[in-house]
Amino acid sequence: MSIIPNFRRLRLPFFSSFNAFFDLGTTVTRIGVQDRGIVMREPSYIGYNSKVKDYIFFGQEAKTILGKTPDFIQISRPMSHAIIADFDAEVAFLRHCIETSIKPYLAEYAFIKPPIHAIASTPSIATEIERKAVEESLQKSGCTQVTIVDRALATAAGSGFNVFSHEPQFVIDIGGGLVEMSVVSGGGVVAQKVLKQAGDNMNKLIANYAYLKHGIVLGENTCESLKIKLLSFDENEEKIVVRGKSLETGLPKSINLKSSDIREAIISQFHAILDSTRELIENAPPEIADAIFKQGIALAGKMATIPGIEKYFHQELKIDTFVVEHAADATIHGLMRLAKDQEALYNISSPTY
Ligand SMILES: Nc1ncnc2c1ncn2[C@@H]1O[C@H](COP(=O)(O)OP(=O)(O)OP(=O)(O)O)[C@@H](O)[C@H]1O
Ligand SMILES: [Mg+2]
Repeated sequence: MSIIPNFRRLRLPFFSSFNAFFDLGTTVTRIGVQDRGIVMREPSYIGYNSKVKDYIFFGQEAKTILGKTPDFIQISRPMSHAIIADFDAEVAFLRHCIETSIKPYLAEYAFIKPPIHAIASTPSIATEIERKAVEESLQKSGCTQVTIVDRALATAAGSGFNVFSHEPQFVIDIGGGLVEMSVVSGGGVVAQKVLKQAGDNMNKLIANYAYLKHGIVLGENTCESLKIKLLSFDENEEKIVVRGKSLETGLPKSINLKSSDIREAIISQFHAILDSTRELIENAPPEIADAIFKQGIALAGKMATIPGIEKYFHQELKIDTFVVEHAADATIHGLMRLAKDQEALYNISSPTY
């Protein structure tokens, strides 16, 4: 054992708070810690055991057992379209996340643990009550102070833009539960359109396609993995053999699905995104429309990592389009970036109660 004392362990709290960052995504919850970066990415799934009356499965484990559990275990998703749909489940989920991903960092403080200051984001479409639910869920999970920032601002900051500049930037965040098309300028959102059908709805479209075209019933996780493995806007054509339940016999059945099948199944949803983008640009004041044409469109969110997506947007809209660096983590990166300037963060945060 080393005789040199571990000074990190002796770090004193100075009674300042400890910043932790929360992107409560519909599909994935991402948590960051000051000076450490992202410390957790877990599917936003939870499992309740009605026999012991407690939540016992969290994140990836809960998602993996979806559709395979006995009646007394219910797997659910506390978030719906980036809004808390089940408050108690979200509190239980956040408590677990804080315990496993934030507490180990607090353990480095030898004597008094500093209070946790949660910096979280909510979509602009959230009502005051929905924002308050996020604030309360974080407080109930152990955070002392909560600061809420508009998600579009965080995503734009995490996409590398200066959100305080008066040069409008257009960011489309394609996530699991929402597609947020936002023009950000001067520390605020100056134009926005939001669609409630995003990546997770595409899984349903794939299930419908397989059912109607091939007479096969596929589970939710199977459809998601088909989307992840096959969906591409490039020319390359991948193929996968998938097993499900035959609609006719109820017995297992295998079919071949190609990238073009998945594109056909979900393309209506991309048409909706393109239509909303055109509408947003058409209705925007000329200065903003002009800035969008000049700066181009930035794509963020995990769905922005679909191969060839930027080429597809460019072809359809005739506007330069690019996928931002670390697209899937843009929101949480943005929260961490905004918190570097406490005064600026205070100026753009929503009032808390
Ligand atoms: N490699 C991949 N390619 C394409 N889509 C993917 C890939 N991996 C995951 N997805 C899909 O991306 C979606 C999740 O995206 P993301 O993590 O940005 O959502 P989120 O932040 O949880 O949701 P939201 O921001 O809408 O609240 C899911 O629908 C998932 O199936
Ligand atoms: Mg997101």
